[in-house]
Amino acid sequence: MNVLLLGSGGREHALAWALSASPLLTKLFCAPGNAGIAEVAQCIPLDPANQGAIIEFCRDERIELVVIGPEAPLVAGLGDALGVSGIRYFGPTKSAARLEGSKGFTKDLCRVAGIPTAAYGRFMDLEAAKTYLASQSIPIVIKADGLAAGKGVVIAETRADAQAAVEACLSGIFGAAGAEVVIEEFLTGEEASFFALCDGVTALPLASAQDHKRVGEGDTGPNTGGMGAYSPAPVMSAEMTERVMNEIIHPTVREMAARGTPFKGVLFAGLMITATGPKLIEYNVRFGDPETQVLMMRLKSDLLAALLATTDGVLQNFDMRWSDDAALTVVMAAKGYPGTPEKGTEIKGLELAKAVPNVEIFHAGTRRDGDRIVADGGRVLNVTGRGKTVQEARDAAYAAIAKIDWPGGFYRRDIGWRALQRVKS
Ligand code: AMP
Ligand code: GLY
Repeated sequence: MNVLLLGSGGREHALAWALSASPLLTKLFCAPGNAGIAEVAQCIPLDPANQGAIIEFCRDERIELVVIGPEAPLVAGLGDALGVSGIRYFGPTKSAARLEGSKGFTKDLCRVAGIPTAAYGRFMDLEAAKTYLASQSIPIVIKADGLAAGKGVVIAETRADAQAAVEACLSGIFGAAGAEVVIEEFLTGEEASFFALCDGVTALPLASAQDHKRVGEGDTGPNTGGMGAYSPAPVMSAEMTERVMNEIIHPTVREMAARGTPFKGVLFAGLMITATGPKLIEYNVRFGDPETQVLMMRLKSDLLAALLATTDGVLQNFDMRWSDDAALTVVMAAKGYPGTPEKGTEIKGLELAKAVPNVEIFHAGTRRDGDRIVADGGRVLNVTGRGKTVQEARDAAYAAIAKIDWPGGFYRRDIGWRALQRVKS
């Protein structure tokens, strides 16, 4: 069958790489894609926000499945538009994508369904928000309700900072996404990313991962989209996975179905594993980036078959196989990231790096310029290794990085430190 994948990051390169191995695939297209994706798919210059153009392309090319990578088109209702046109797609409808599109929506759902999460309040009014703040302890977490490209969360250490964050949010720095603010309790514990396919009724756990959100070594400096990740997350034991499914994922799927807005697609739970058990920090309604890069390295089953089973509502008959190996990805970013990254710098040595055993290099923000590959974004490459242990996977990834000649880039040298420390202690 012909498949259209939407997006242009390392997540989409990893998905394209896995999809291209499927015996069910005839032809893979990606819009808009990048220089790495172009090696496994035909890239087409279409904007995923342009619903009409996507639908027209699907008709012309007889696309039988559209896989929607990023959240923005899902929250904007691309799924619904495809559905109305009779085009099959992987991902939630607009109503179900509210699990990512509105943090307040998800917090209220947690309350109704008894899902463990941080205590919270939702406010559109500054005075009411201030009154609530005064009754809470610090640190406290301030979040814009809507999509704010990862920038809408402030962990305030003082009351003055908390108040300033609430004021900034409600004054419109995030546009419509910040018209409402969620104020929530600060949770402590270990964070993990957990993924499950959901077909509206049945949820099938995928694997877990942990990422490194801060730009600097030792988890310091500003937040980013993620500077590296590894899978599995050691904190997600079989017992913890079962608790997360029973206490968080299944109740969510049941509640969404009961409301007449069943969730289909991949549910990405950002978790805090606290002293009293797992708590939901937030949901995303799409695959994680860079978590997907490590998940795809460990997946043994046919990804396309799994996405079809999800879309067609037959997950109860489905199972997935994972390698026992660990995978670890290191993000190479352009200098300046997460501020203003420098674009257009040349990257050399990719062929040598790719030849390192047990390594895949996923492109996150690259462009081909004649014979050259140049940086074209903040996060640019995801150098991904596989091995029997996190240490082995990490050694493979860094061995490949050593072959890459890119003075315009930088990376963290300590990806996986938490997992390695666990092994030692
Ligand atoms: P989010 O965009 O909701 O994933 O938040 C970004 C990051 O902020 C999370 O990955 C956590 O590290 C942190 N965070 C968000 N909410 C909380 C919370 N209630 N308690 C502690 N940390 C949080
Ligand atoms: N790595 C976090 C995300 O994809 O949102």
